[in-house]
Amino acid sequence: MSEIKIPKHIAIIMDGNGRWAKKLGLNRIFGHRNGVAAVRETVEICGEIGVKYLTLYAFSLENWHRPEDEIKSLMSLLIEAIIKETPDLNKNNVQLRTIGDLSSFPENVTDKLNQAIKITSKNSGLILTLALSYSSRWEISEAVKTIAKKALAGEIEPESINENVIEQYLTTHGMPDPELIIRTSGEQRLSNFLLWQGAYSEFYFPDVLWPDFKKKDLMKAVNEYSQRERRFGKTGEQIEQEKKLI
Ligand code: FPP
Repeated sequence: MSEIKIPKHIAIIMDGNGRWAKKLGLNRIFGHRNGVAAVRETVEICGEIGVKYLTLYAFSLENWHRPEDEIKSLMSLLIEAIIKETPDLNKNNVQLRTIGDLSSFPENVTDKLNQAIKITSKNSGLILTLALSYSSRWEISEAVKTIAKKALAGEIEPESINENVIEQYLTTHGMPDPELIIRTSGEQRLSNFLLWQGAYSEFYFPDVLWPDFKKKDLMKAVNEYSQRERRFGKTGEQIEQEKKLI
């Protein structure tokens, strides 16, 4: 049996918390609470199997349009989870990062987040990135704005703007693109998540709702990824030839 290929970077759209709670006749926030438990398990397993980057879509820019009480509960849950989980993240050598427009977050949330980011900043294991108030179109617009300003100031030649230059101004600068993007709950959309970075990602859409996403589900996703052939526009024959040369 050939060895399983572990992606360096997995990104996940954690979907289905609300439906999970509804099925049990419970409040949506109960679903989010159980979603945090699935986050904990996923982080642990990614660390164990040697994934280097895990990026989780925890709160989209569009999520600000949710009912006020759900937003409030999500913020409290986030603070609670960060306070509770930071010691374990640190113990497990996990480095916490965020991407997104954190300026729209309440100060008490950003304070706790920044503390956790600082505490874990020297860790060399899994890099856990929470996408918070994140939107790809926002991120790309910001990058374009910065590059345009630099061009106007004469710091950058318009002719020299290419993919590498744009990458430098994305919030994920320096991170490899995700080889695998998972969205739970059966929905098959990117919803403004890592549009640039996901150009060549493999997609995996299990039906399982996020609070039910367990080790076996992650391993199924990784196994499926491992069996797919990534061609980056080349032919299958070229890829086979390249493998022989390694
Ligand atoms: C999507 O499910 C889920 C969210 C918008 C929030 C995800 C947040 C968490 C799992 C908690 C975050 C905590 C940490 C520590 C990262 P949905 O509510 O859209 O579900 P539905 O589509 O069934 O309504």
